[in-house]
Order: sequence, then structure tokens, then C-alpha cells
Amino acid sequence: MNATNTLSIDDVVGMKPAGEKITVLTAYDASMTRHLENAGVEVILVGDSLGMVVQGHDSTLPVSVEDMIYHCGMVARARQRALLIVDMPYHSYTTAEEARDNARRLMDEGGADMVKLEGAGPVLEAIQAILDDDIPVCGHLGLLPQSIEELGGYKVQGREQAAADKMLADALDLQVAGVNMVVLECIPSILGKHLTAALSMPTIGIGAGPDCDGQVLVLYDLLGLTPGKRPKFSKDFLSELGEGKGITDAVRAYVEAVKSGKFPAPEHGFK
Ligand code: KIV
Repeated sequence: MNATNTLSIDDVVGMKPAGEKITVLTAYDASMTRHLENAGVEVILVGDSLGMVVQGHDSTLPVSVEDMIYHCGMVARARQRALLIVDMPYHSYTTAEEARDNARRLMDEGGADMVKLEGAGPVLEAIQAILDDDIPVCGHLGLLPQSIEELGGYKVQGREQAAADKMLADALDLQVAGVNMVVLECIPSILGKHLTAALSMPTIGIGAGPDCDGQVLVLYDLLGLTPGKRPKFSKDFLSELGEGKGITDAVRAYVEAVKSGKFPAPEHGFK
């Protein structure tokens, strides 16, 4: 830990060789951040999922840089120990210069420690510009919610050998560029295991099986707040605890389940 008792990127990245699972959850405001801190979550992600679970849109596409700065600022004010990652929203990194300028705003005005961008290949130039400005980057591969129109819906990615090979090549490109960790969303559990073994940077899975170096969930899914059908990869930890238990208890149950390898279970993964 550094002098301010906030976990550094090195602290979190060092959990991979130490064999300790990394716990990540989304938060969008100060009160929820305090519950995550009290439960010992190591990384907080201000995800652009806020466009769906907070703003009520049917995708993450309408979320703006201003929205992300607003929510990241609320989380940053309550954050004590966790590393703070913020999503760069749709169309905020279409050129290298735009990417660097928006990432700088998210760090300086939002108070983040790291930015997250979806994809590789054509996005590498933007990632390089951000890294060249000394801003740490988290990657995101597999199901990319900002490319939902091109992907034709929320579907498992990397089932075919060619797609799995491309994902490995993309992940290695991110790692060589200097990206510190990568989120893997909705891919077969066996591919999550393979990518985790092949990479020195930590993998953070969401629907990517139990072998990733860490796990992330949308907090509202974990608390049963999301109306309608819950994604297969998530779990309502609050309702499982029963009466008399609250938000911190549910988050603590998630942390313990990830650390002990009980979550995700086989039924949360994809073949
Ligand atoms: O926006 C988000 O919450 C995310 C997670 C689902 C990984 O990117």
C-alpha cells in the first residue's frame, strides 16, 4: 500500500503472482462506495453500466464523459482504500487526441486512478496516447457493450477457435502496449482459463469462469435491484443472506465467495 493507504496498481497487479483473487464491483455514488469499502473490495469500477442501471437507457451508448466525471467524483469523495477505475464512454476515444484529452479529464476532474476502454486493434492507438500521457489503462475484451449494435446483441464471445485466437492476440497486444489489467466479459470459462494462464497481467472476469485472477459484477445485480431477468453470470447475494442482512453483508459475502473460489460456480459460466 502507498502512503495514503490507497491500494496502488502495483498492489492489485501483485495479487496475481501472489495467488490472491481480486474483488471488483461497480459503484456510481458515495453511499454505495462506503459499503464497498467497509466490505473490503479492492477495486471499484465506475462503469458506464450506469447508463442502464442508473439513467434508465437500454444500452451504455448514450453515456457522456460529463456523466462519467459526475459519478466518478461522487465515488472518489467516498473512496478510501480501493483502486478506482472509470470507464471511458462510447465515442470518447475515437481519435488518439480525443482519447488522451478525455482520459485526462476523467483522472483530473473525476479523481480516477485508471481508465478502462473496450477493445483492441483499432483502439490501440488511443490506448497508446493515454499511456504516453502516464495514465494507467485497464482493457476490456469479449462482449463489448459499446459495440452491441455490431455484435448483434448480448451474446457469448470467443466460442469459435478463430475468435478465441484473436482474443488471445488482442490481449497480448494490450499487455505489450502497457495495459495493467483486462476485463473479460461473457466468454467460455475454458477461454477465461486459457487467457489467464497466457497473460502476466491480471484478468478480471464477468461471465468468464472461475479461473480469472479476479471477478467483477454490477453492484445492482448483486443486490437484486435490477428488475427483470438477471444475467446468468451474476448472483443476488443479498436475497440469499435472508432477513436482517444489509448491503455491506451482501458485498462481504461476494468478497468471501470470490476469495474462496465459491463464486463464480459452474452455473454462472458459459461453455
Ligand atoms: O460498465 C460496467 O459496469 C462494466 C462491467 C460490466 C465490467 O464494464
